Amino acid sequence: MLHCQERFFEIYHREAEAVAFCPYRICPIGAHSDHNLGKITGLAIDKGIHLAYRPKQNGVVELSSLQFDKRAQWHVREVPREKENDWADYLRGATMKLSARYPLQVGLSGVIEGTLPIGGLSSSAAVVLVFLKALCQVNHIQPTPLELIQCSVEAENQYVGVSSGKLDQSCEMYSRKDHLLYLDTKTDQYELIPTHPDMKPYRIAIFFSGVERTLAGSKFNMRVDELRSAAYALAAYAGMDYGKFQETNMRDIPRQVYDHFRDRLPHTWQLRAEHWFTEFDRVERGAEAWRRGDLATFGRLSFESGWSSIYNWETGSPELKTLYDIMTRTDGIYGGRFSGAGFKGCCMALIDPAFEESICQSVAREYLKAFPQLEGKFSIHICQSADGVMA
Ligand code: GLA
Repeated sequence: MLHCQERFFEIYHREAEAVAFCPYRICPIGAHSDHNLGKITGLAIDKGIHLAYRPKQNGVVELSSLQFDKRAQWHVREVPREKENDWADYLRGATMKLSARYPLQVGLSGVIEGTLPIGGLSSSAAVVLVFLKALCQVNHIQPTPLELIQCSVEAENQYVGVSSGKLDQSCEMYSRKDHLLYLDTKTDQYELIPTHPDMKPYRIAIFFSGVERTLAGSKFNMRVDELRSAAYALAAYAGMDYGKFQETNMRDIPRQVYDHFRDRLPHTWQLRAEHWFTEFDRVERGAEAWRRGDLATFGRLSFESGWSSIYNWETGSPELKTLYDIMTRTDGIYGGRFSGAGFKGCCMALIDPAFEESICQSVAREYLKAFPQLEGKFSIHICQSADGVMA
């Protein structure tokens, strides 16, 4: 029995009727690209978020989380218009966005359980998708995967106020075990590239720094604004047509325009654009490397993506940068980077399973030498690729 089922029984004195699950995701190449309609690669992993629940016919949603203190409650047709600045805001926003598309009658009581520490694996998108899945189930509605992705992204953008793209939701939704998701966030076209029969074996290592984070409190939105400002300026320098600022994306700007006018951009904007264009290129090369089973090249591109996130996108806490450095010099690691936005949280790496033990030992030793105070909080999790919600 899962902890969330046990807790459900303690609170409600009866069994949960069902348990929904959504995996976490990693993005080895394609970071900080989706909000400006770039391309991404991703995989879902075999750890994620469970929700034990029962329908509530009166339309009330009542949720507890094993990770957070406060129990949250709202009605499916009367979601508070403003966020309440707690963990359930993502879910209030998602209820509002789903009910704008489908009339909702039934609520649910539930307990949420995350299997890994928070930060970098997109638990926020996973918690929204697992909740939407349950809410759709109790209301007997079947939105398309894209509609669910849109509800979730809109909840993040418009209700919570984070300028994220659709990378997280798409990975958690579309991924398939032993396949690489290769998605164009502009067209929503995607491909699931199978693992080549000759590809070396790999596992996914998650090195959790011991420092948790929320995107809303980070410089995430500012970086997105810097990139968008660069796109707006480049469009103007080149005499291109442009519309509203918020609707301008770096994807609208041809690479030649960037090459021609880049020196006119303020230095920081130039760095953000440099990250975006080089990452776009790395994603395309990475997808081809995966297609031919070339894990060495794929891994190197992931390391390069990590480098660019530190020096061009300028993210990374001291803890994450140290972890990244350690990873680049540890035998048996093909490649890796910060997982997710890179402000706190974790790093992911693709590792050779034959080196698993030595990798875990040496990364832990070196990291805790640099941050002894994080002993007991730092953790390593070895995962495999997994199916997304819709697979
Ligand atoms: C977070 C956001 C995503 C994406 C990544 C960085 O996970 O939610 O949309 O921008 O950061 O690649």
